Amino acid sequence: MKVGILGTGSYVPEKIMTNDDLAKIVDTNDEWITVRTGIKERRIIDENEGTSDLAFRAAQKAIEDAGIDKNEIDLIIVATMTSDYGTPSTAALVQDKLGINAAAFDLSAACTGFVYAYSAGHSFVKAGIYKKVLVIGAEAMSRVIDWTDRGTCILFGDGAGAVVLGEVENGGYLASHLVADGSGACELLVPAGGTKEPISKEKIDNKDIYLKMNGREIFKFAVRVFPETVEDVLAQAGITADDVDLFIPHQANIRIIESIAKRFKQPLDKFFVNLDKYGNTSAGSIPIALDEAIKEGKLKKGDKFVATGFGGGLTYGSILVEI
Ligand code: ACO
Repeated sequence: MKVGILGTGSYVPEKIMTNDDLAKIVDTNDEWITVRTGIKERRIIDENEGTSDLAFRAAQKAIEDAGIDKNEIDLIIVATMTSDYGTPSTAALVQDKLGINAAAFDLSAACTGFVYAYSAGHSFVKAGIYKKVLVIGAEAMSRVIDWTDRGTCILFGDGAGAVVLGEVENGGYLASHLVADGSGACELLVPAGGTKEPISKEKIDNKDIYLKMNGREIFKFAVRVFPETVEDVLAQAGITADDVDLFIPHQANIRIIESIAKRFKQPLDKFFVNLDKYGNTSAGSIPIALDEAIKEGKLKKGDKFVATGFGGGLTYGSILVEI
């Protein structure tokens, strides 16, 4: 049995925050952000909403795109590092919003979350446990950002993307490669609010409830591991970078994407880029890009894509899929 993508969907909040808007709240400017990252603007979630609201809207679109009855969904996996609550899972909230009977759980692998969740969803279908799995990557990063830290607040945005996985006649999953290196946990984390460092006034005053990132280390890490994971999935499928129709990299920084294109001797236009519009939406980044690539006609039936994520954990990985 071949397992592949039956439909895709994505949703970003309407509110836009430009680099000039950011320059009004931290010591930065449009030129610095554009040159160092490629980001021009990002979307910010409505005051009264949470990650589950973004995930729900992306899910509705993916179900519609798949042309299935929502009740056919057996399992919902939400990749996120910005769950609505500590518990319950965001996936359970999405299940309720959709009004369907389905198993539901969250998956935590930061910016690599969607690649992990896709691989998990694929495995459930391939093993014959479930027929149709809704895989969502969704984040409200603006809620865990320290808006006084110019090293991080310029990078992130909010949004969600979703795919419905099920049996397909042709193409589908070709390979996946997932890695975690917890020794690098300190390079990107939200220190307080979990069981290790429960919330206290001191933690709040110290801004430990917000994301802390060693930008330079993450940059070096990304440039180092990206080629390794792409080469792994290409080798599994016995193909080369030339055989890939589109690369869908995690949308973190245009300089990382440029260096990977150069490393694989591929034209930059074989790498899908929308970080200029949305910034880094963590687990939302790859499924939003995938949905836009298909809707813009950059990925057609029979095309192969490699999607690669990297980030907190540290984690990284790729999936190779034929549309
Ligand atoms: N505006 C203006 N100046 C700034 C800003 C800013 N927003 N941020 C930093 N600077 C300054 C620094 O203070 C520094 O000044 P100094 O030289 O006087 O000390 C100078 O600019 C250079 O700073 P660097 O940190 O060396 O800048 P760099 O070129 O490394 O860019 C960046 C920083 C954009 C964060 C980059 O390191 C990066 O993109 N890292 C990767 C982050 C990433 O991809 N994360 C993905 C994973 S996220 C996840 O999993 C949730």
